[in-house]
Amino acid sequence: MENVTFHDHKPDTLSLYDAVVQGLSKRQKSIPPKFFYDKRGSELFDQICQQPEYYLPTVERRMLEQNAAEIAELAGRGRVLIEPGAGSASKVRLLLDALQPSAFVPMDISFEYLKSSATVLAEEYPWLSIRAACVDYTHSLPVPENVPQGSRLLFFPGSSLGNFNKQEACEFLRLVHNTLGRGGMLLIGIDTKKNHGLLNAAYNDAAGLTAEFNLNLLHRVQNELHADLDPNNFSHSAFYNNQAGRIEMHLISKLKHTLRIDGHAFDFEEGEYLHTENSYKYSPDEFISMAALNGFQSRRYWVDDQGMFAIYLLQSE
Ligand code: AVJ
Repeated sequence: MENVTFHDHKPDTLSLYDAVVQGLSKRQKSIPPKFFYDKRGSELFDQICQQPEYYLPTVERRMLEQNAAEIAELAGRGRVLIEPGAGSASKVRLLLDALQPSAFVPMDISFEYLKSSATVLAEEYPWLSIRAACVDYTHSLPVPENVPQGSRLLFFPGSSLGNFNKQEACEFLRLVHNTLGRGGMLLIGIDTKKNHGLLNAAYNDAAGLTAEFNLNLLHRVQNELHADLDPNNFSHSAFYNNQAGRIEMHLISKLKHTLRIDGHAFDFEEGEYLHTENSYKYSPDEFISMAALNGFQSRRYWVDDQGMFAIYLLQSE
């Protein structure tokens, strides 16, 4: 493939071991959600995305398809297109023909996954120059040096911003702002605040895939860290916390027991919560004012007719 290059920025991510020992040592035990995505976890997430209750990707894809031409008109063609956490880069395919970027920079934490998906993309889009970068976007957004000059557009779909708390979200927007420079644009998809029944159902699908996804984190700890741990001691819990405006996912200990990793012992009470994920929801007003505080002016935004999901196009000033 001549139209693709790879750049390993060697992300200095905390190892699974360090993150788990740190997280389980806290009074409120927690493990960061980025550790969901091993091979099995990524497969489970793909399956979650096909469940009728988990409306986010379906609605977002439809909105991208319907509005690709208008997005391209507003952003202009020929920008450098950057996508943090690109994974299989399936959503960006809905925009490439309309946007005609001068280069596409998919960023992902897994170099293996990045290599295979960027190679497939390069075969499918021979006209597209791809500069793939191995990056942990929760730390930094290093753009490869061989990327052409010119204005940039950063694409951040899937409501990934929801995993950050409010302060982290502001810091991320600042980081994006610095990466884009003046006149750069941000196209971001974020889940809306809505009927709590719909939100709760999205994280408690009837097929039990979200539960399996949540519990897979413990299988990972068991297999990779050789922990003395029985995943059957925990059950899945996900609920909308209205006060905080977020879905919370937890693993609840079914009984009083001790989990061991190396020389470490972590005691769990019956009913104790291990916090695994936050998924913040934003009303358009809320997100637009947060973006404004961090250097972005809203150019246009789209909400589907049921108010399920929102896509925002903003300009860095
Ligand atoms: C990928 C972070 C957007 O929060 O909805 C799906 C992950 N967790 N089901 C989300 C997820 C449980 C998802 N994000």
